[in-house]
Amino acid sequence: PDLYAPARVNSRGWDLTDPVELAALDAARGKWRGHAWEAAPHIAAGVHGTHRQDVTNPAHPDEVVGHSMEASEADIAAALDAAPGGAADWAARPVADRAAALNRAADAYEAAAPELFALCAREAGKTMPDAVAELREAVDFLRYYATEAARLEAPPRGVFACISPWNFPLAIFTGQVSAALAAGNAVIAKPAEQTPLIAARAVQLMHEAGVPRAALQLLPGGGAVGAALTRDPRIAGVAFTGSTETAQKIHAAMARHLAPDAPLIAETGGLNAMIVDSTALPEQAVRDIVMSAFRSAGQRCSALRMLYVQQDVSERLLEMLFGAMEALRLGDPWDHATDVGPAIDAAAKAGIEAHVAALAAEGRLLKRVAAPAKGHFVAPAVLQLSGIEALEREIFGPVLHVATFAAHEIDAVIDAINARGFGLTFGLHTRIDDRVQQVVSRIRAGNSYVNRNQIGAIVGSQPFGGEGLSGTGPKAGGPNYLRRFAGRPASGCAA
Ligand code: NAD
Ligand code: ALA
Repeated sequence: PDLYAPARVNSRGWDLTDPVELAALDAARGKWRGHAWEAAPHIAAGVHGTHRQDVTNPAHPDEVVGHSMEASEADIAAALDAAPGGAADWAARPVADRAAALNRAADAYEAAAPELFALCAREAGKTMPDAVAELREAVDFLRYYATEAARLEAPPRGVFACISPWNFPLAIFTGQVSAALAAGNAVIAKPAEQTPLIAARAVQLMHEAGVPRAALQLLPGGGAVGAALTRDPRIAGVAFTGSTETAQKIHAAMARHLAPDAPLIAETGGLNAMIVDSTALPEQAVRDIVMSAFRSAGQRCSALRMLYVQQDVSERLLEMLFGAMEALRLGDPWDHATDVGPAIDAAAKAGIEAHVAALAAEGRLLKRVAAPAKGHFVAPAVLQLSGIEALEREIFGPVLHVATFAAHEIDAVIDAINARGFGLTFGLHTRIDDRVQQVVSRIRAGNSYVNRNQIGAIVGSQPFGGEGLSGTGPKAGGPNYLRRFAGRPASGCAA
């Protein structure tokens, strides 16, 4: 073997700028344009479910993308009954066998790329670049945790509940599940109610790759299904990604019902800020602001919500920003020309619009572009605020809030950002080297980005996660993540 070759490399992805690769991908993806997928509980005892529901396309709400059977109480009970046996069987297998199954799953995901891209567009409203990034991240999680498993010296914990959000329906779903499995645990996965089809397809691919059915069970459904899992003492730990409010409910349920040492690994929301000072390169700052605030229609936990611009450059920078926003193309995420897709559903859109309307009524709307009338589209907006203290909550959409600051106020800006208690991502644009150290060392944020956009962390090289109200850590895609999925090291091992 080549001693200098890395144990693992990240997925090469798909080059959408290569016309030959793009044409082949489009032809293969086109076959899934009218397909209808099915999701149902996958429990060791078979496939069950009640309440067959339509899953619709957020860009075309009349288009049915597939159907989901929600897990019934009997399905939840059956999954919980079967999981301990599944955990014992999976834990007894050599770590190399478990890793091999995850690596085969990564290959299977890549082979299924055209179908998964179609699902990402039609079920989750993902543009093609976002779908490519989503699949790459999912594949990277599988291979990264398969490799990391060999370093773990502690035993599995048992059965993990993995509860995931809709905004990374493949990547985060797969990241949680593959980490728990890599550490030798069984998993009961509860995907977001908005995106059960992608989760069901992912589970099917993992089963086909050799993960036993009792070691990985799927329970589609809403918050009640997730809540039932977090109340059952057979659950040894919970991996959760979603809102801070839901994480707090899960924490309370676990404290009441689960063993005292059951870990909660929670990745939650953020009020992410960026500071642009008067030495920043305006073209670069504007490009990175647009990317951070509006890519993925702002539906990223990492997205920029609160921009602070130094007073003496704010007029010019905002003028350039508004010009760049005019160039954004909103539309069907299936189309390659689209930059910004829809909000996930009507309720999400209504919540974002209510926020914009309330601030617009106070005269705070600085800029809004047009959005398609049909579908759950939200027009990107820029709103003026006095500062982050005026932002009531995380607005999970393409809405950017802006404040200005004078040079002597930069410490007060940092204090105001930290005072909110979140700590997910942070961005800084400056050409002053000392300022990078001055600001980044004081900001409470899991991931700080300097002179670039603040989204899109890379598995294995940029572990991702927050602190405070933004999450418990350890960071996903980093060297400490698997440890929380494992128990205490056997006696005699180093702590
Ligand atoms: P959400 O909290 O509404 O739902 C997340 C999941 O929790 C869903 O599967 C939901 O069904 C389930 N759930 C709801 N109530 C529950 C309960 N009482 N017990 C157990 N499970 C329950 O979040 P969402 O709207 O799906 O996702 C958006 C949120 O996720 C945003 O706040 C975003 O910032 C956050 N997020 C964070 C990260 C991160 O890595 N930090 C990544 C993506 C999304
Ligand atoms: N890991 C995702 C990002 O960095 C949430 O944008």
